[in-house]
Order: sequence, then structure tokens, then C-alpha cells
Amino acid sequence: MILVTGGAGFIGSNFVLDWLAGSDEPVVNLDKLTYAGNLNNLLLLRQDSRHIFVKGDIGDTTLVAGLLNRHRPRAIVHFAAESHVDRSILGPGEFITTNVNGTFSLLEAARAYQRDLSDAEQAGFRFLHVSTDEVYGSLGPDDAPFSETTAYAPNSPYSASKAASDHLVRAYHHTYGLPTLTTNCSNNYGPYHFPEKLIPLVITNALAGKDLPIYGDGQNVRDWLYVGDHCAAIRRVLLDGRPGETYNIGGWNEKTNLDVVHTLCDILDRLAPKAAGSYCDQLKFVKDRPGHDRRYAIDARKIERELGWKPAETFESGIQKTVRWYLDHQEWVRDVQSGDYMKWVEQNYGQREGSRA
Ligand code: NAD
Ligand code: DAU
Repeated sequence: MILVTGGAGFIGSNFVLDWLAGSDEPVVNLDKLTYAGNLNNLLLLRQDSRHIFVKGDIGDTTLVAGLLNRHRPRAIVHFAAESHVDRSILGPGEFITTNVNGTFSLLEAARAYQRDLSDAEQAGFRFLHVSTDEVYGSLGPDDAPFSETTAYAPNSPYSASKAASDHLVRAYHHTYGLPTLTTNCSNNYGPYHFPEKLIPLVITNALAGKDLPIYGDGQNVRDWLYVGDHCAAIRRVLLDGRPGETYNIGGWNEKTNLDVVHTLCDILDRLAPKAAGSYCDQLKFVKDRPGHDRRYAIDARKIERELGWKPAETFESGIQKTVRWYLDHQEWVRDVQSGDYMKWVEQNYGQREGSRA
């Protein structure tokens, strides 16, 4: 069995669903159920005894030690984090607590657990840490994409907290021999994506007739990867990745934010046309994100060369699937947009003056 942390969030829930669709190996899913964790993402596993959900904090050392000793997993796949850059700007404290201290706690628990395993179990044990390309900072227009040897230069409290956690993972391998694997992935999109992030926010706001907020000039570039491809890459790294190594994961899909939003509006115009006009009419340029990284791009040649992983989706196929998923899951969206979500919208967007494009 494996222990997954943060498996009720966007990527974690996709990972757990994909894992159990392709294997009978059980999953213990430890998630604190913050605003971003949602058991509705896991409804398909309601009756599935291979999925053991535990509500709890990765920083709860007694709970984590108990889970490890009871279930004896052969691997920990660590997704749990505070993940939204804008929230880290408005309130960095939780990011340090979960991403830095929480990861430290989990590493300590893994080290203690692994020390007492048999030699064979120890050799097979893995701690896979899911991280981000944001640790590398921001690229200029002509810079080469981030590789595994690019120097760390995190710019937001979120990326700094993830960079700190990456360094701890590295140190636990180097110092204690913990068999760690680190993945640094680019921007994901797909089903169950919480509508505070650009793609689901634009889809849900468009359908609700609301503004589509574009930070700054909309020319910031992100490298988009369909979430199912990210999950497949993590499975490959878990199976054959070399302990102590890091693997960059990306889709070779660099797009400006404005391009992404126009693409979404075009698809919605076709699949759910408005009575009059285009969803593009709802675009609104608003005040920029402080310290906004200009460009991310991932050089994914190492994972392709060493592990034979490549994305299966193009941006065009993945984004169509994603829009269709949101159109088909309006109830999921309504459920997620609870009172707390509305408070966040007011806090983040209330103070951003702007004008429709
Ligand atoms: P998310 O915010 O959707 O989900 C995070 C999950 O972690 C939630 O279910 C939440 O309840 C849980 N959690 C938070 N704090 C916890 C704690 N202290 N103990 C236990 N559970 C806790 O995040 P996501 O977008 O699914 O990202 C998952 C991981 O992947 C993160 O580590 C993130 O840094 C990384 N990542 C995300 C992206 C992306 O584009 N979303 C890209 C690269 C890497
Ligand atoms: O690169 C990987 C990272 O991608 C992950 O580590 C993070 O967890 C994940 O949240 C994501 O970070 P970004 O900041 O790139 O994603 P977000 O969806 O918040 O923003 C994408 C781009 O869109 C970014 O340039 C900011 C812009 N944006 C975002 C929002 C929410 C807007 O223009 N308007 C918006 O309302």
C-alpha cells in the first residue's frame, strides 16, 4: 500500500482516482480538508475498500507515526500543501506551517519508520515529494526552459516555501540516506481544479456572466500540463526514478494568459453559446499580482530520456476535455463555491480596480 498526502485536493485526488483505476494496491489518503480539500472529488471511491481516507494534518506527528506503523506503506507520495500564490501573498503564515514545517514533520516520521524496516523493505521504500517549477523563479523571453540544474530563485512566499521543502527533502537523502524522489512540475489543469486558479476561474466566471480578471497585461507565460499526464509522470518516477534525483515535468505548452483565456472563451462560445456576443466580452484587465513571475517553461527531457515519460494530451485536447468536464459538473462547482470561497473572491478581487477589455 501507499500513503498519499493531500489526496483530496486537485492533483492528489486525480492521482488517487487514476492509481486505483490502474492498480489494486490500496491507498491511505491523509488530508486536512482545508478549503482546497474536497471529499466530493473522491465520490467515485465511496464504496471502495482500497481507499482509506484519514482526515488529519501532516504536521501531526503522532497521527502520522501511527498511520505508518499500522499500514506499513512502501511509499509516501506527498502532495499536501498550500498551493495558491495569491493566498500566499495575502497570508504567508499557513504556507510556512504546512509546506515547510509540515514537510519537515513528514520527513522525520518517514525517517523513523524507514529505519525500522527490514533490509528488503528499506531498499524498496520511497518518499516522493511533489513540487513545482516556481522554485526556479522567472524566465526572460529568450531564456532556456528550467532544467533540473537551474539555480533556485523563488519569488513568492508560496514558491519560497516549496523551495525550502525541496531543500529539506534533498538534505534527508544526502544526510540520512532517505530514498527520496522530487518532481518539479509546471502548471496543471483538468477536472477537480479549484476555481481560484486561472483556468477553472475563467470557465466558472464566464458561465456565471462575471468578469474574467486578467492580471497586468496578460502576457505572463505558463507551461500547461493536463493533470492526468502529471499523475502518469509521478507513477513513472515512483516506479523507476533514482533515489535522490529530481525530475522536471512539463507539457511543452507555453501560452500567455491572454491566449489561454481567449482559447477558453472560444471553446465556451461553441459549447455553451451566450444569447448574444462572446464570452471574450467579459475580459477585464485588473491590477497585477505583486512580484508576478513573467514566464515559466520546463525542460522535460530528463524524465523522457530516463523514464520514457511524455505527455499524452496536447493543450488543445486537454483544454477541450477540461471545459466539457466543468460543463458536465456544475453541481461540483456550486458545492465548491461556498461561503468561504466568496470571502476569498471579495478579498482578492475587491481591491483590484480595472476595466473590461
Ligand atoms: P490543492 O491546493 O488543490 O490541494 C492541496 C491539498 O492538501 C488539499 O486537499 C488540502 O486539504 C491538503 N492539505 C493542505 N494542508 C494540509 C496539511 N497540513 N495536512 C494535510 N493535508 C493538507 O493543491 P494542488 O494544486 O492539488 O497541488 C498539489 C501539490 O502539487 C502541491 O504540493 C503543489 O505545490 C504541487 N504542484 C501544483 C501544481 C498546480 O499547477 N496545481 C503544479 C506543480 C506542483
Ligand atoms: O507553475 C506551477 C504552479 O502553477 C503551482 O506550483 C501552483 O500551485 C499553481 O497554483 C500554479 O501557480 P500560478 O500562479 O501560475 O497559477 P494561477 O492559476 O494562480 O495563475 C496562472 C496565471 O494566471 C498567472 O500568471 C496569474 C494569472 N492570473 C491568475 C488569476 C487567478 C490572472 O491573470 N487572473 C487571475 O484571476
